[in-house]
Amino acid sequence: MDTLLLKGKPVSDSIRLALEPRVQSLKEIGIIPKLAAVIVGDDPASQVYVRNKARAFENLQCESDTHRLDTDITVEEVLTLLDTLNNDAAVHGILVQLPLPTQLDSKTILHAVSPKKDVDGFHPENLGLLLEGNPNFIPCTPYGVLEILKYYEIPVSGRHAVIVGRSNIVGKPMFALLAQKFEMGNATVTICHTGTKDLAAHTERADIIIAAAGAPNMITGNMIKEGVDIIDVGINRVEDDSEKGYTLVGDVNRESVMGIANSVTPVPGGVGPMTITMLLVNTVNSAEKCRKLIACH
Ligand code: GUN
Repeated sequence: MDTLLLKGKPVSDSIRLALEPRVQSLKEIGIIPKLAAVIVGDDPASQVYVRNKARAFENLQCESDTHRLDTDITVEEVLTLLDTLNNDAAVHGILVQLPLPTQLDSKTILHAVSPKKDVDGFHPENLGLLLEGNPNFIPCTPYGVLEILKYYEIPVSGRHAVIVGRSNIVGKPMFALLAQKFEMGNATVTICHTGTKDLAAHTERADIIIAAAGAPNMITGNMIKEGVDIIDVGINRVEDDSEKGYTLVGDVNRESVMGIANSVTPVPGGVGPMTITMLLVNTVNSAEKCRKLIACH
């Protein structure tokens, strides 16, 4: 079986292209979609993500401010900044880059982002609306996975989707979306995690695998059935003696699934480009909602 590589770029390009006229018509009435990104400390991967986000906003002629805070900042200081951003009518989206340094309680901080500007979809109000089937902001990575499935016409309804990983960022919202009775959902969903006794016994029965455990090369060819569609959400830095000092690898051992799977997303170049694109979508949606609420401007 030829295994199709589900590249993120064409999906991302077509979504970004469709955003351009929407941004233009907002501009005509004086609204420029604006993201405020908050990053604490100097985690190298987070620095790269935040830089890429800023560049994507610039390319779409949207605005983004990056607030860089020292590792030893207090929760109160972060909350004060979030309060200012929540009340700034020019800001349509607020994102707190994760992970946060361990001394900061991420729940307290994520709960302090206004649900109306929570373009990551991490606030409990937005997670609740998602579970209810009435989403306000869909978390960007699971949203990007849905867009890849849609673009490549991978059937979802009635199939067995196995999610590996139960994070709040990917696994749990992915479950809510795939299980939901709507055009891109209606799957039978199994969610596996570090407490799962025999992971292969589940992945072997999957029609769709969403690998989001953050464990390099965890899913191998001997754990899957022929014809499965695999979405690899993992972006793991594996140290080596290359010039960069590391190589990016997914949660799926790609070579070993080629020829068995129907399709697989590459790492890098699969789900990765989608996350920022869906952040653009959420921020433009937020700015458009603002347009309807005269009080915002
Ligand atoms: N860290 C890893 N993924 C994400 C994400 O989607 N949003 C934020 N804010 N932080 C992350």
